[in-house]
Amino acid sequence: MRADVRGHRPVHGILSAMTSPDWLESWPADEGARRVRALFADAFGASDDGAPDGVWSAPGRVNLIGEHTDYNGGLALPIALPHRTYVALRRRDDDVVRLASAQAPGETWTARLSEVAPGAVSGWGAYVAGVAWALRRAGHQVPGFDAVVDSCVPFGAGLSSSAALECAVAVALDDVAGLGLADDDAGRAELAAACVRAENEIAGAPTGGMDQAASLRCTEGHALLLDCRPGLSPLESATRVPFDLEAAGLALLVVDTRAEHALVDGQYAARRAACEKAAALLGLDSLRDVPAEGLPEALDALAEHDPDGVLRRRVQHVVTEIARTAEFAELVRAGKVDEVGPLMLASHTSLRVDYEVSARELDLVVEAATSAGALGARMTGGGFGGSAIALVRAGDVDAVVAAVQQAFDDAGLRAPGFLLAPPSAPAA
Ligand code: GLA
Repeated sequence: MRADVRGHRPVHGILSAMTSPDWLESWPADEGARRVRALFADAFGASDDGAPDGVWSAPGRVNLIGEHTDYNGGLALPIALPHRTYVALRRRDDDVVRLASAQAPGETWTARLSEVAPGAVSGWGAYVAGVAWALRRAGHQVPGFDAVVDSCVPFGAGLSSSAALECAVAVALDDVAGLGLADDDAGRAELAAACVRAENEIAGAPTGGMDQAASLRCTEGHALLLDCRPGLSPLESATRVPFDLEAAGLALLVVDTRAEHALVDGQYAARRAACEKAAALLGLDSLRDVPAEGLPEALDALAEHDPDGVLRRRVQHVVTEIARTAEFAELVRAGKVDEVGPLMLASHTSLRVDYEVSARELDLVVEAATSAGALGARMTGGGFGGSAIALVRAGDVDAVVAAVQQAFDDAGLRAPGFLLAPPSAPAA
């Protein structure tokens, strides 16, 4: 279906007057492997026979619903994208890390693993070296390595390009160090935890764990119902929900708004801090412990500490979003995926009004897509720019794409990018 939908370009109508849509294609696996093998020979060929020990890759993710809930001990429902980051890696006998990237031609990032520590390294290499550091901190023997990366996960689009990088490196190191963690879901949960530590402590982005769990633990054809309540076993923390869009005659359209998006700035951290403060004021470990029916009482209890209402709006979003995520997963399980649209729209409104993380471009996608017949639409990921998703009948994809393009053009905005997201395979 994907190929059909993509192959079906409109020849008449509104788009004929505009440039054709910018489809952000994923690479076939052999294309990704070919690229990083060539890059490896180029960057590190002189020091050996030019061959890496192997090639590994990990997907970006898109979250169906459950936004800004992971660091509140809540529920999220991501799928893995067909778009992946590829890593070619060769172990070394010392503890040096040397890295090169197709996205930074001609540059080599170098560090000693023994010197990697919070605040000690910067740049994109921090995400990579951070994974080795975190695995070592978890007690695993991890050698130094030479590695190169290339990726078709759109950057800065809220589709977890950084988690894809971390997770591709995690499975590569797991393999060359013979750890065997990637062989089962419990081990993958451990790899995901190392990637989260790398991102939080070495790269300095205070994100939750959804992205890394999605990249390592999603499976093809399924959404991952992630329960982030602290202390759950791997088995309890992730459930795979069959998500067969094709059988339902639907497609998930992702729109990269190309509006600037950054999680390392203060906004994400401020949202997280507000939630932690609200939970502490309520005497709870996390906002997950506010049941939906206890929301009015929790909001009342916060009133005296919250003159401007900000904390209450944040809590309102988190508690209702967790409930919507549970309901969404139930509908999907019951084969009623065509009924989830209102939950997506309610999620978007909650993120826009109560959590205040949307952006003009994201709101525009939601409006244009729903006016053109999408069953539901919402921003996805951290927000402040990045991407939005629309659930669309397969036959309506072109019309929705045309409507979004037109809306951006009318608003004088840069043309967005589009991709289709069948639920895809995890890091390997
Ligand atoms: C980013 C973070 C995730 C999650 C989302 C919002 O993607 O990396 O941990 O908090 O934002 O749901």
